[in-house]
Amino acid sequence: MATKTVFVFVLLYLCYFQIVTGVSEREVTDMLLKDYQKEGRPVRDPTQAVETSLDVFLIQIVKLITQRQVLVINFWLVHRWKDDFLTWNPAEYGNISSIRIRSENIWRPRLVNYNREHEEGWSETPDTNAIVQSDGEVLWNYQITIHSTCVMDIARFPFDVQKCPLKIGSWTYDSSKLKIVNRSETGDTNQFIENAEWKLLSFDLEVNHVEYSCCPGVLWDDMTYTIVIQRRSTFFVLYTVMPCAILAFMAVCGFWLPPDSGERMFICINAFLSMIVLQQVANKHLPGTATTIPLINRFMGVGILLVFASSALTILTLSLLFKTFDLQPVPKWLRRIFCLGSPDPNIIRLAPEVSPKKVDANVLEVTELEDMDATFATDRAKATSQLVRRARKVLLQLKEEYDMMSRYEKIQKEWKIVAGKIDRCLLIAFFIALVVISGAIFGPSG
Ligand SMILES: *[C@@H]1O[C@H](CO)[C@@H](O)[C@H](O)[C@H]1NC(C)=O
Ligand SMILES: *[C@@H]1O[C@H](CO)[C@@H](O)[C@H](O)[C@H]1NC(C)=O
Repeated sequence: MATKTVFVFVLLYLCYFQIVTGVSEREVTDMLLKDYQKEGRPVRDPTQAVETSLDVFLIQIVKLITQRQVLVINFWLVHRWKDDFLTWNPAEYGNISSIRIRSENIWRPRLVNYNREHEEGWSETPDTNAIVQSDGEVLWNYQITIHSTCVMDIARFPFDVQKCPLKIGSWTYDSSKLKIVNRSETGDTNQFIENAEWKLLSFDLEVNHVEYSCCPGVLWDDMTYTIVIQRRSTFFVLYTVMPCAILAFMAVCGFWLPPDSGERMFICINAFLSMIVLQQVANKHLPGTATTIPLINRFMGVGILLVFASSALTILTLSLLFKTFDLQPVPKWLRRIFCLGSPDPNIIRLAPEVSPKKVDANVLEVTELEDMDATFATDRAKATSQLVRRARKVLLQLKEEYDMMSRYEKIQKEWKIVAGKIDRCLLIAFFIALVVISGAIFGPSG
């Protein structure tokens, strides 16, 4: 009996409570949305503008697609506005001061990103809930990932800094209908997740009132956030700039090798090919069309030119070294440049004698000898004296030939010295060029 009484009392108490408070959130929502018209602006006085504040929380930079010049970002949008038709008195409605309503059921400012790449469909606003306060304040947040266009400046790649705008405004309401105001001076980055490739430098905000050519005299509000990001260049320095510098350095060091070893051409050609491969790898990270030549490409171009020049000059020194026909003594100006001292007198003396005539004379001798054989049978004594003369002539010729050979050798030796000295000069010149050009390219002003 007692338990029954208690039960009845509890039931009565619950009924009493229900009658007094009377209201659930459902009823508030029903009451609010009963005659709600979500198309018109939520102001009782149509001359008034709806004031919407917008906060943008940058959450993540997903990636920067360089070929398409598109920045993929993840952010939260927080809208606040006042809806004159979503008000109630909490005292009448069981002290319920705020309710959550599906945002597609009420009027929304529908701000859009002006520089969005519309591949996900036009203005797909997520239908998240909105929080409505009893005085009509609406708070509507959603999270969105968008592709926003970002024209890249790659002149200083891989040490580049990119500025990507994020322009948000209403597509149809001008500022006399919808005023967009900011609640802070910059965007919010407290929730930002660090990106491995890009470092966020700043996320600034600018509030604009712009007149477009479509509608003279009408101002449109927009909020333009600027995402400034800097590339983390360590990867590129490690995997492209450094190998390229080392290859260029190796090609230059090739001048230290004796030119006739043949290894130098090998080094040059290998460096040349490797640099071209490296350049292709680096180009993958650059937009297809570039108005400026990036730093890294300038450096590689110079490296390739250096390697090319070094191969060409190696060919020159090799050709000097293996010159065997028409060998002229080292000219005076070259001697002066490389301080070779005065030339061997033998070389000078014999120089004019080297001529095609001499070769003809040798041929003549052979025919004369055949004549001699013919005369030999008839006149012995005459033949003997003739033979002696011939022998002397042959001996003289041999000596001459020997002199010529030694002269050749001396000239060749001098050319070898010249080639060696040219190599040393080139080594120094190329080294200086490499250092100066690298400094100029990667220098702070670069
Ligand atoms: C609503 O709040 C007021 C003041 O806080 C209080 O006096 C009243 O009893 C509350 N009403 C209900 C139904 O809780
Ligand atoms: C809104 O942004 C402007 C700059 O565009 C700034 O001067 C102003 O202080 C900001 N308003 C608030 C409430 O921070």
